Amino acid sequence: MPDVYAAITQAEPATLEKLGDAMEISAADEQHRAMVEAYLADLDLAAGARVLEVGCGTGAIARIIAAVAGEVVGVDPSPALLRRGRALSAALENVSFEEADGRALPHADTSFDAVVLHRVLCHAPEPERVFAEAVRVLRPGGRIAVFDGDYATITLANGPDDPLQTCVGAFAPEFVNDPWIARRLVALVAARGLEVLTFRSHGYVQIREPQYMLTIADRGADVLAASGRIGRELASALKGEARRRVAEQAFYGHIAYVSLTASRP
Ligand SMILES: C[S@@+](CC[C@H](N)C(=O)[O-])C[C@H]1O[C@@H](n2cnc3c(N)ncnc32)[C@H](O)[C@@H]1O
Repeated sequence: MPDVYAAITQAEPATLEKLGDAMEISAADEQHRAMVEAYLADLDLAAGARVLEVGCGTGAIARIIAAVAGEVVGVDPSPALLRRGRALSAALENVSFEEADGRALPHADTSFDAVVLHRVLCHAPEPERVFAEAVRVLRPGGRIAVFDGDYATITLANGPDDPLQTCVGAFAPEFVNDPWIARRLVALVAARGLEVLTFRSHGYVQIREPQYMLTIADRGADVLAASGRIGRELASALKGEARRRVAEQAFYGHIAYVSLTASRP
């Protein structure tokens, strides 16, 4: 099963509905919001700044950016996600949306003060092309922010040989098009001649109500069963074990995200 985001225009309506829900839930999470606010502070946007968010989905991050920018334009290849984004942003005069593929943006060269790529480069096909387009539309002196998961750091383990960790190993290659992109970001930026301003690691941990981390256990267990590596019974047992740990306050799920900001000379 390929990363559903990498072929978003072919996704079923029910899938798009669930993905949209996940984006909204995740952006509303206090820890997630704090990470966004941290890199937005690094961008140091002027009050009237014109910002492009590439791969905006339902616009959950665009609406956070809108609080500190003059204008935010969100682009995404999915008309369904954009429809939801428009409805959710109707009260915000400085947010608008356009249907576009990040690999071929419809905007003029140097037309934005800042560009944000939030959880997009790991999912979009040809991330190098998406990044090159983001740089093209950025004005000289403008800034770019990239935020992604460092998927090799995901852990659900409480100790050595923890069976729950097998779910993690099965999850990333199936749900993330390029799980290692976080480790290549600095090289990607340097190759385009930008100057790296900040590169931060953000720890994200869930223990009591691990909504997101439980989806990793579940999705990993499903991949293991669907590929025939384990049976349905063991997949159910792994999911049950994750929930037992939640009930007994023994659950630990952690991922490191990274954020990078850079300026265009
Ligand atoms: C994990 S979601 C992130 C959405 C939003 N940035 C957020 O964090 O709430 C990944 C997004 O990348 C978009 N995407 C996939 N392929 C893309 C491409 N070629 N160009 C631009 N966006 C793309 C998807 O439609 C989806 O909205």
